[in-house]
Amino acid sequence: MKVHTAFAFSAVAGLAALTMVGLFPQRSAAQPAAQEAESRAAFAVVATVIGSPRCQGCHTQSEFPRQGDDQHRHLFNVMRGPDDGGALGLPCTTCHGQANNAASGVPGADEAWRLAPISMGWEGLTTADICRHLKDPVHNGRRIGEQVVDHLRTGLVKWAWSPGTDAHGRARTTPSVPYFDFIAAAEMWVQTGEACP
Ligand code: HEC
Ligand code: HEC
Repeated sequence: MKVHTAFAFSAVAGLAALTMVGLFPQRSAAQPAAQEAESRAAFAVVATVIGSPRCQGCHTQSEFPRQGDDQHRHLFNVMRGPDDGGALGLPCTTCHGQANNAASGVPGADEAWRLAPISMGWEGLTTADICRHLKDPVHNGRRIGEQVVDHLRTGLVKWAWSPGTDAHGRARTTPSVPYFDFIAAAEMWVQTGEACP
């Protein structure tokens, strides 16, 4: 009887071991795919924000910024200039200060107002291209992983959620995803391996 019990026990243990061996390869194959799906889903949230006209107006591939939800060319023939901060003699900061100016409709942020460099321009790119650029040192200012997320906490990015009113007193639209959810999605995207569509 004792022998029988011992045999039964080892049979159960053996079965359990076999089950584990049997399951393990399945699990390790399933997990990366699940993680990649999670990463893509997180990027989809990030992408809706990137598509906001508030971001796109500064991330142009042209020699000038853009304005409004229709992304028309910036007023007054404002130009990118040699350092993305405006033409010599007419820097962006001539008009753009540290906060939105409700009277004139000129937006401002607690960071020097300027265009993103051409290498970081998103105009005309697909979502998949933008995703690859965010990971590419040539296009992302040599930021890696968390550093890209840290950058999203800067004044110019945050401005998009409190963009003030335009020159006609109309409230500018904001990205459709709340700021907090945007940062959480960006963090999730980085932590899950930065998968692209
Ligand atoms: C007022 C102009 C301005 C606005 C508005 C703006 N950016 Fe930028 N952005 C910049 C500048 C300038 C840089 C380059 C900063 C640097 O490298 O130090 C930059 C760089 C970036 C980068 C890092 C480079 C890259 O492409 O990987 C990301 C990501 C980014 N911005 C996201 C956003 C998002 C998202 C929004 C909207 C919610 C936004 N920005 C709105 C000016 C702007
Ligand atoms: C002569 C003053 C002046 C200069 C110089 C200037 N801007 Fe502006 N900017 C404005 C005004 C005025 C508005 C608001 C226009 C409106 O709401 O119709 C504005 C709005 C903007 C907007 C917000 C558009 C939107 O609707 O989201 C961006 C982006 C912008 N400027 C970028 C720049 C950049 C980058 C530079 C430097 C290369 C610059 N501006 C230089 C006056 C200026």
